[in-house]
Amino acid sequence: MSHISVQRFSGAQLGTYLEAVALLRIAVFRDFPYLYDGTMDYERKYLRTYLECPQAVVVVAFDGPQVIGCATAIPMAFEEPAFQRPFIEHGYDPARVFYCAESVLRPEYRGKGIGVRFFEEREAHAQELGAFDWFAFCSVVRPPDHPLRPAGYTPLDRFWEKRGYSKHPELGATYIWKDIDQPHETSKRLEFWLKSRRR
Ligand SMILES: CC(C)(COP(=O)(O)OP(=O)(O)OC[C@H]1O[C@@H](n2cnc3c(N)ncnc32)[C@H](O)[C@@H]1OP(=O)(O)O)[C@@H](O)C(=O)NCCC(=O)NCCS
Repeated sequence: MSHISVQRFSGAQLGTYLEAVALLRIAVFRDFPYLYDGTMDYERKYLRTYLECPQAVVVVAFDGPQVIGCATAIPMAFEEPAFQRPFIEHGYDPARVFYCAESVLRPEYRGKGIGVRFFEEREAHAQELGAFDWFAFCSVVRPPDHPLRPAGYTPLDRFWEKRGYSKHPELGATYIWKDIDQPHETSKRLEFWLKSRRR
């Protein structure tokens, strides 16, 4: 673990890392609260949006040459209508929102500040683009008594609050994927968190 580096990629370079993003998403998001039973087919469709958007960014963490984690972000205007709708309904212009989609880091590399870098790098990319008032991301809502909730599970809320984000339960969306304990895709409630770019 001695050669950790973090780099940003966008434009033509971004495509090089999308397969690594897909593999990390499938591996890391199997855990609660995502419980995502991922496939490369689903990933290819999901990640195509990033390939098609010149303003999207992928932040990649390496241990030497090996990819150990990544984070993605994209202007909300490029995201699907289901994500833009709550913002429009609550008076936010999606064109002014920069959406930090996911952070996924292999468990053995956690607690070393890489997650903080993921936010810093994505926000720095948005600042360089210069067109946004808000940074946003969303978390998945699971019932407190969900059978797969690990004993002693701590949500990431404090980590996100320390990055300057606040939860906005009024900004909700639903999204569909297959859970590891379900036979079919089911819809999940997502809640957005926001941070003002100018704070
Ligand atoms: C989210 C994630 C990328 C964070 O990465 P990380 O490198 O472990 O985080 P950092 O080391 O930068 O943590 C920074 C701070 O947050 C705290 N923190 C990290 N994970 C935490 C957790 N699960 N609960 C509470 N605090 C946490 C750290 O203690 C540290 O606090 P400090 O600033 O007081 O020292 C990583 O936990 C992960 O991949 N999780 C699984 C996927 C996920 O849930 N992604 C988020 C939604 S897409």
